[in-house]
Amino acid sequence: MGAPDITVERLGPGYFADPYSVHARLRAQRPVTRVIMPGGAPVWLVTGYAEARAALTDPRLRKSMPGWQPLPDSIFAMLERHMLNSDPPDHERLRRLVTKAFTARQVERLRPRITTITEGLLDDMSSQGGYGARAEVDLLASFAFPLPITVICELLGVPAGDRDDFRTWSATIVSDTPGPEVFQAHATAMARYFMALLAAKRQQPGDDLLSALLAARDDEDKLSENELVSMAFLLLVAGHETTVNLIASGMLALLLNPAELARLRADPSLTGSAVEELLRYVNPVSNATFRCAAEPLELGGARIGRGDPVLVSLSGANRDPARFGDPDRLDLGRDSSGQLAFGHGIHYCLGASLARMEAAIAISGLLARFGSISLAVPAAALRWRPSTLIHGLEALPVRLVRAQGASTGS
Ligand code: HEM
Repeated sequence: MGAPDITVERLGPGYFADPYSVHARLRAQRPVTRVIMPGGAPVWLVTGYAEARAALTDPRLRKSMPGWQPLPDSIFAMLERHMLNSDPPDHERLRRLVTKAFTARQVERLRPRITTITEGLLDDMSSQGGYGARAEVDLLASFAFPLPITVICELLGVPAGDRDDFRTWSATIVSDTPGPEVFQAHATAMARYFMALLAAKRQQPGDDLLSALLAARDDEDKLSENELVSMAFLLLVAGHETTVNLIASGMLALLLNPAELARLRADPSLTGSAVEELLRYVNPVSNATFRCAAEPLELGGARIGRGDPVLVSLSGANRDPARFGDPDRLDLGRDSSGQLAFGHGIHYCLGASLARMEAAIAISGLLARFGSISLAVPAAALRWRPSTLIHGLEALPVRLVRAQGASTGS
């Protein structure tokens, strides 16, 4: 693989909890270095901002390996034929099928429903303590997870009651540490779930995105059956594995930076720029999905060989001091534009407007309802998910005290 290198870092459990110090160390040597993934595979890791942007728009870094053949029809083929795994022209064809549903204008129409779902969850949490009493809840399980999963389920037409099943399957699929048997079992369960759901929708279509995609498949032949199942899978997983972490890790960042939290409470008009800074600071998707070099190339002083896998670190780029001054400081007033939390280039997040709106409604709703929010455990005791893709908490135990005059919800 390429030229001799400086350090080969092995990414392990410490990296899941704190990718930032590893990135800072690597970036100080060179913005593109080799690392060993938790599973043992060597990859190039891009931790510099300029190099990350360049990599994400470089047509030589592709989603498919040179000479790669799609898997023969199998349960995995049903989940992997989606836009985030595709290069042009398939990528554009697949993305175009759903772009309209996620435009800022279309998403704006969801605002009242997202607000209602949020208020309902706040009511449930409020009713867990008497007035002025401290309620202790896991903010992730009670709020940050159910909000985006309910929204994406309603949009797709997936029964929200099944969410505990796909929460488990999806957590396995984005994790770096499941054994092959668990991975196979959960991926199979996920594929079977969608096959059954789509079969039921064929019989009884609804006013939802999956029914619209079924019509595009059956009436207009715009995508294959595997592409349809893969699309449903991608939208469901991307729609909730990410925003949950923006809300939960975002709240944690505010709790650990009380001056910034006070600033936001004092001036709720900061919410928009706060969400942007929290995206830069907490990086719900720590590293972009893999790219592969279709031909040899140089990036940030590294010589990347044909066929080498490349991992672009969004959290690395967003904390690069060459782009954001004092990058490890949370500053809700800073200009965070250009942050790469949603990626860059043709795979730029389709759900960015939706995620921004959900997070803004969630965080401002929480602060309005609860006059005091504090961590119920020491920060060092919080556990992070074993994933190099997603940077997210396992749980966020907090104590909540209702604001004076806030509704009880009961
Ligand atoms: C805070 C929340 C979110 C974050 C941080 C986030 C982040 C990202 C990133 C970094 C990518 C590009 C990955 C790459 O290039 O390898 C991406 C792509 C994507 N995201 Fe999001 N996402 C979020 C929420 C959502 C939501 C709510 C949806 C709704 C369905 C969504 C759907 C997608 C899709 C479909 C793609 C693939 C786009 C393509 O390949 O053209 N995301 N997201």
